[in-house]
Amino acid sequence: MSRHKPLVFSGVQPTGNLHLGNYLGAIRNFVRLQQSYSCLYCVVDMHAITIWQEPQELRNATREVASAFIAAGVDPKAHIIFNQSQVAAHAELAWIFNCVARIGWLNRMTQFKDKAGSNREKASVGLYAYPNLMAADILAYRATHVPIGEDQTQHLELARDIAQKFNTDFGVPDFFPQPEALLQPEGARIMSLKDGTKKMSKSDPSDLSRINLNDDADAIAKKIRKARTDPEPLPATGKELESRPEARNLVGIYAALSDTAAGEVLQEFAGSEFSRFKGRLTDLCVAKLGPIGAEMKRLMADPAYVEGVLADGAARAHAIAAPIMTEVYDVVGFIRAR
Ligand code: TYM
Repeated sequence: MSRHKPLVFSGVQPTGNLHLGNYLGAIRNFVRLQQSYSCLYCVVDMHAITIWQEPQELRNATREVASAFIAAGVDPKAHIIFNQSQVAAHAELAWIFNCVARIGWLNRMTQFKDKAGSNREKASVGLYAYPNLMAADILAYRATHVPIGEDQTQHLELARDIAQKFNTDFGVPDFFPQPEALLQPEGARIMSLKDGTKKMSKSDPSDLSRINLNDDADAIAKKIRKARTDPEPLPATGKELESRPEARNLVGIYAALSDTAAGEVLQEFAGSEFSRFKGRLTDLCVAKLGPIGAEMKRLMADPAYVEGVLADGAARAHAIAAPIMTEVYDVVGFIRAR
């Protein structure tokens, strides 16, 4: 048995265009986990600048992600919402992890390969070392559970490897926990509305590929109407969806939003044309996302409140991380004033 207290940590990058994938894969789970865990939810602004961000837009996007957490139902008093750069432990521990993780481990990260593309030489060093910072985010608090979408599971595996190597190298068994991923059964991998084989992403140049959390009802209706499908009606079993990625994605979104399994959605819609199904999906999406979008808008009109939440959260996060960092420095052999 691990000696570590259950604690949830997760992060979202403030890089604009928060979308349905972020909500169904991660943020919705943040809200649920508050019932059973102490939770820290972080707006990872230091991760965001691994790719160029306009400073003014970064500030705005940071407030927007914090607003989305609150609007979706995270309680910033009972739990902690903060931005990464306000707590020095993230950068401090990331440096130590830069010296623990191996280049070979980072070379295997598929997200780096995707984001750096064909011009790797021009990618920032930060983009390459990104997963080490993510491991630091989690382990600076000795967090044990990490709600994420499927695209982040490789990074979480790396965080586990780093924790283990640190514990072994320094001869401190169980110093850091092995954090576990928490994935949503439906929603862990929401795909583009334009291509069912590509994940829904903030950086897709086509806005029609994703439903943004602040889209209004008309925009949601238009995007679902224009979503790619195939000419067949909906089948009766999940097996028949395997070769139909767009249909499978829309059924998955419906299942996630209505908190059922894909099989149950198919029972209801087997034999239906997409036009009918899309109408129902639009209603469901508007009903679930409309109130969140409206609340985000209200919060974005009050930047002082949102920044107050971030500052208060950062102070409370610092109070958890600081004593852990003192232990880390001691284990590593750094001299510090006592
Ligand atoms: P980010 O900002 O890209 O995404 C935030 C969360 O949304 C999930 N997600 C999706 N889930 C389902 N379907 C999709 N299409 C989809 N797109 C995104 C992501 O899996 C993620 O959970 N590296 C992280 C941020 C991070 C972090 C951390 C997460 C930094 N430090 C520590 C957990 C713990 C990222 O870039 O997420």
